[in-house]
Amino acid sequence: MAAGFPRRTPLPNVDAISDPRALIETEERWGAHNYHPLDVVVDRAQGAWVYDIEGRRYMDCLSAYSAVNQGHCHPAILDALRDQAARVTLTSRAFRNTQLPLFCQELAALCGGVEAGMEMVLPMNTGAEAVETALKAARRWGYTVKGIASDRAEVIVCENNFHGRTTTITGFSTTGLYRDGFGPFTPGFRVIPFGDLEALRAAISPQTCAFLVEPIQCEAGILMPPDGYLRAAAQLCRERNVLFIADEIQTALGRTGRMFACAHEGVAPDVYVLGKALSGGVYPVSAVVSRRDVLGVFRPGSHGSTYGGNPLACAVARAALRVITEERLCERSAELGAWLLDQLRTLRHAEIRQVRGKGLLAGIEVRGLARPFCEQLKDLGVLCKETHDSVIRLAPPLIVSSEDLEWLVARLRTVFAG
Ligand SMILES: Cc1ncc(COP(=O)(O)O)c(C=O)c1O
Repeated sequence: MAAGFPRRTPLPNVDAISDPRALIETEERWGAHNYHPLDVVVDRAQGAWVYDIEGRRYMDCLSAYSAVNQGHCHPAILDALRDQAARVTLTSRAFRNTQLPLFCQELAALCGGVEAGMEMVLPMNTGAEAVETALKAARRWGYTVKGIASDRAEVIVCENNFHGRTTTITGFSTTGLYRDGFGPFTPGFRVIPFGDLEALRAAISPQTCAFLVEPIQCEAGILMPPDGYLRAAAQLCRERNVLFIADEIQTALGRTGRMFACAHEGVAPDVYVLGKALSGGVYPVSAVVSRRDVLGVFRPGSHGSTYGGNPLACAVARAALRVITEERLCERSAELGAWLLDQLRTLRHAEIRQVRGKGLLAGIEVRGLARPFCEQLKDLGVLCKETHDSVIRLAPPLIVSSEDLEWLVARLRTVFAG
């Protein structure tokens, strides 16, 4: 043993465990139980397909909550990862690196560029951190630009929101499961019903700095607002000098058939919050994109993250964004998603309450629990996960083929027979 390293109790050689039950038991014993996964032990993945430790193949219809829009282990993204990893991975923001400037420039352009008011990018790592960043920017913008009295700024959020898991974010969640037992919470948030324009109008006060909204509430069960809501809400925010913050962490980058879900209504938000597919599932990368007067409120020291904007993350994200445009993933999502939704709407089963979605983001709401259907689908080689108990979310990687989708629909017909 090398001098200076403490002696440790030897751990079991995990590489030697090839029995899925033993791995599941080891995870249950040593890992915290903050998830309730399906018992499939994934060993490798390629494109739209994952393989368990015993070699069984499954179509991935979750895409890691839409992080893997580009498909698992996309070769171009892995090349970027390898190339950059061999050069330099982490500089911290104490120094500059070759990838951050290009990432910021390219992402701002993708979001519409200067003409759309997308003038600055602030990279972080996880989605929740990007949401926190947007909230801090909005509050400081409220004080320094809008002129709200110190510590009085309010952010309006929607019922059934899901923006992540930090204590501030869970504090304005309306879902008991997410918030119970984690208080006391950060003040300064006002909750209104999702999709209700009049509620938004009534909630805006001189202290309101921002309205934070998901264009489609994915975790809440693929809940779509009424047509025209996002456009009218953005317009109202503009009139009342309130920042319209679109949390597109799950809906952007092609998932709904457009680069951004807001684009379906021609909405250009003041602030985009992005994550997940920004790195194609290869590395945690998130970002806030906005105007100079919003992100310009940060001064050195007022915000940061050791890993945020690191060269490896930026190289991976640049490759991931190139894949989305070069492989026309938005168009694929729109075309294949329209076909899939049509097929889902032909399913006839007493348990099905509603089918909804946009692009390759679909939800099948059932009358009882969705979990047993997900278990049955798993046994037929389809991986998907229930959301909010009664909704089966289907969100395959956007590189999925039409043959793969036909295969998927055949499995769904088996599960929803009669
Ligand atoms: C809309 C939305 N915002 C924020 C988050 C949080 O992202 P992360 O889990 O990377 O912190 C999620 C994750 O599912 C999300 O769907």
